[in-house]
Amino acid sequence: MAQIERGDGFETLAIHAGQEPDPVTGAVVPPIYQVSTYKQDGVGGVRGGTKHGAVETGPGRWIEGYEYSRTANPTRGALEECLAALEGGARALAFASGMAAEDCLIRALCRPGDHVLIPHDAYGGTFRLFDKVHAHWGITYHPVPVSDAEAVRTAVAEFSPVLIWVETPTNPLLSIADIAALAQIAHAGGALLAVDNTFASPYLQQPIALGADAVIHSTTKYLGGHSDVVGGALVVADAGLAERLAFLQNATGSAGGPFDAWLTLRGVKTLGVRMDRHSENGAQVAMWLANHSRVARVYYPGLADHPGHEVAAKQMRGFGGMVSFRHAGGEDRAVEMCGRTRLFTLGESLGGVESLIEHPARMTHASVAGSPLEVPADLVRLSVGIENCDDLIEDLRTALG
Ligand SMILES: Cc1ncc(COP(=O)(O)O)c(C=O)c1O
Repeated sequence: MAQIERGDGFETLAIHAGQEPDPVTGAVVPPIYQVSTYKQDGVGGVRGGTKHGAVETGPGRWIEGYEYSRTANPTRGALEECLAALEGGARALAFASGMAAEDCLIRALCRPGDHVLIPHDAYGGTFRLFDKVHAHWGITYHPVPVSDAEAVRTAVAEFSPVLIWVETPTNPLLSIADIAALAQIAHAGGALLAVDNTFASPYLQQPIALGADAVIHSTTKYLGGHSDVVGGALVVADAGLAERLAFLQNATGSAGGPFDAWLTLRGVKTLGVRMDRHSENGAQVAMWLANHSRVARVYYPGLADHPGHEVAAKQMRGFGGMVSFRHAGGEDRAVEMCGRTRLFTLGESLGGVESLIEHPARMTHASVAGSPLEVPADLVRLSVGIENCDDLIEDLRTALG
């Protein structure tokens, strides 16, 4: 029986945490419990835990009594246990999408009249959630440059936010926030720090160890890794907050399904080797683009001249596979190029084994047009996959013309 021990390395946890062989059959992979309801041991009696509240049966291992799969499901539980181990959190919760996870965290932490600081460069859907959904419930957001800790400190003093929301690296401009510094600023000001770790993944960066209170994932991206499943996750440092999130997740019905959890868990097993290759390919592509005459500027935290390079090198184990650049020929040339690649597929999303290309201003970030988060019109975003890197560079060479 595979058993996790304190001190096991990341790659070991990715393969074994939450994934002991099935006690009934010995199956080495957690089965897909494609089930909505469970036989109860008498009225009000559930198996594997207590009816009211989860039971912690080991470090990061929480079992709820199984009665209905919106509340708890063993396959989803296996994924949650694994994610808690990988992020070093008290507990993780798996959702139907990254947006569902974000929504749950905001509802748990914010009340009408509260203020939140958000990055002035962030995933468009996150901005839309604050701007078009939670704003109607009296939650006020303030965009700040989260790569500038002093600007965040000033905004904390001005707005007394309950929450500082950070992406690092950001989508799509790959800005870097100093997580440890922001955690200190947040806590000194009575706020919590939430970090969207989607671009880095827990293999490259572990925000909770740096002082963050909550980690958000679109597991659709690197954690799933194969562009075949949509999902999200929250991992939190405090078990009490986890309890409130679990209550909301059940009350609002935002959990992910068992097959999606199983697919995500399958992806997670190879996260380390994939991220190493994404980082190698990302660095090569970024360096090649930086020397191309039709490229005006490259955004990649691994480049020594990136303004966040030093902080990224301090808090990340590698720089990942996301690379953005500005086309020197302007918006029209940038759009044209996105339609001319052979291996880079024109598409939204990121973090899969295959390379993707997109035009953020017209695609993933169309919702931030006219806002402080608006992205440059000549920007192209690449999700560099794990194909042969020479082939990828040749593809970009042809498409850039
Ligand atoms: C950084 C980041 N956070 C959150 C999300 C939302 O995740 P999902 O699409 O799984 O709802 C995305 C989606 O692209 C993202 O890039």
